[in-house]
Amino acid sequence: MSTYTEDNRKVTTHRLQEMKQRGEKISMLTSYDFSMASIVDQAGMDAILVGDSASNVMAGNVTTLPMTLDQMIYHGRSVVNGVKRALVVIDMPFGTCSGNPTQSLEAAIRIMKETGADALKIEGGKEIIDDIKKIIDAGIPVMGHLGLMPQSINKYGTYAVRAKDGDEAKKLLEDARLLESIGCFGIVLEKIPAQLAGQASKELSIPIIGIGAGGEVDGQVLVIHDMLGINKGFSPKFLRRYADLHTIMTKAVQSYIEDVKTRDFPNQNESY
Ligand code: KIV
Repeated sequence: MSTYTEDNRKVTTHRLQEMKQRGEKISMLTSYDFSMASIVDQAGMDAILVGDSASNVMAGNVTTLPMTLDQMIYHGRSVVNGVKRALVVIDMPFGTCSGNPTQSLEAAIRIMKETGADALKIEGGKEIIDDIKKIIDAGIPVMGHLGLMPQSINKYGTYAVRAKDGDEAKKLLEDARLLESIGCFGIVLEKIPAQLAGQASKELSIPIIGIGAGGEVDGQVLVIHDMLGINKGFSPKFLRRYADLHTIMTKAVQSYIEDVKTRDFPNQNESY
């Protein structure tokens, strides 16, 4: 039985909600450019995240913190240009949603206006709840992000699993409830114990999308460069590699070098 959908209707936040209600798992993957996003969309992905992980996998930065609003808008517009069906969600970059609701809304409006995306994702809970509420109240759909929040790496000092102790787990559930109560349409839970993520998914009526959060959630998200095996240096336990593009691309590039050096390329058929 094929699990790919033949339903070509545009995916909306409402349809994600329906998927949760009927127990259909939600597929989500990152993309940062037109070509990749077109492939991901045509393959039948439900949602595409223009993650600020672009900072790591596209720009080669160590953290997501350097990503600017203009850079997210550039990546977001490029992805939207390649997508017909999937819901496109864009990350609000570090520093654009951090305790000044008026400024946060301005940044959110810029992303929505200049990219044509469907929704935003914001890292954080209670501390920035007024910012998130103001954005939602302006009619912009928001997906929360709790657990490991890479924009807070300098606070944590480590990318280890979050919410393993009772206090942090309790706060995570409180934050998740709060995000639901102000109207978030979904929440990403990153790198937390599977049991806690499953509890959040059961308790909340909005979809919970996990990354390193086990299988008892409503959907999964991965970074495309990781799951395609483009960057081999990142191998957390939760990552399943679906291809080894690093090897495939290296071999293709080496063949091209060889053909140029040996004058095999271009041949007569490839010349005017
Ligand atoms: O930026 C990103 O790619 C993300 C995912 C890891 C969820 O936030």
